[in-house]
Amino acid sequence: MARIVAGIATSHVPAIGAAIDSGRTQEPYWKPIFEGYERSKEWIAREKPDACIVVYNDHASTFSLDIIPTFAIGCADEFGIADEGWGRRPVPNVKGHPELAWHIVQSTVLDEFDITIVNRLDVDHGLTVPLSLMFGQPESWPCPIIPLCVNVIVYPVPTGHRCYMLGRAIRKAVESFDKDMKIMIFGTGGMSHQLQGERAGLINKEFDNRFLDNLTKDPDALTRIPHVEYLRETGSEGIEMVMWLIMRGALDEDVREVRRFYHVPASNCAVGHIILENRR
Ligand code: DHB
Ligand code: FE
Repeated sequence: MARIVAGIATSHVPAIGAAIDSGRTQEPYWKPIFEGYERSKEWIAREKPDACIVVYNDHASTFSLDIIPTFAIGCADEFGIADEGWGRRPVPNVKGHPELAWHIVQSTVLDEFDITIVNRLDVDHGLTVPLSLMFGQPESWPCPIIPLCVNVIVYPVPTGHRCYMLGRAIRKAVESFDKDMKIMIFGTGGMSHQLQGERAGLINKEFDNRFLDNLTKDPDALTRIPHVEYLRETGSEGIEMVMWLIMRGALDEDVREVRRFYHVPASNCAVGHIILENRR
């Protein structure tokens, strides 16, 4: 049987991708951020997942105001890299795992989560920056990736509780997949940030660190945070953190914190990163 062994959460700031792609990771502004991921890169290179489910949001790259799925899963063999307006990032295309992706669709839909099936999808910084942070700059990504795209752009976005419950349904789906596979799940985006308006640049270290603490200690408390609290406390884009709750819901109740990193700021964003491992 397949099983989810660990969850990885990380911010997905596009400027981090640009710093990697233009060889600026050793500049004083960027160096401490990349140093924060060094041990995580070593950890994942050692742990070698057979596939990763990456929960991310599309930033009007593949989807637009025309079609806005709440939850969408990439079922294709391969996903292209989106051109977000300054050319596509020079990173390899992302290879999918259609068999496991379709199995997750079947299991979660039968569990009453009506996920959108996507057979053609270009992935943007929301997915590629976390891959770069964890896997560096390989010729090809080290394992298949299943993109799970969440609408956190256009109101109404899913609640944290709905995300957490979807995570549980994904765990059940993976555990009923009839192949021995070691799966990891990424939750991306966040932490506190606001990109526009009068409060642009808002960062809330206290909220972010409490959120990191509670991912291990009290995830149920996180599922009760209403949208308006994310908005007020973490800025308009802080709502991306609901995606971390899909990752958390897919893990066991009892997890071990393997790594944690928090850095302010990168671009307009608080960079948060945590790795949680199931104990069993
Ligand atoms: C920034 C952060 C994001 O999460 C994003 O999607 C776009 C921009 C930023 O801080 O610049
Ligand atoms: Fe984002």
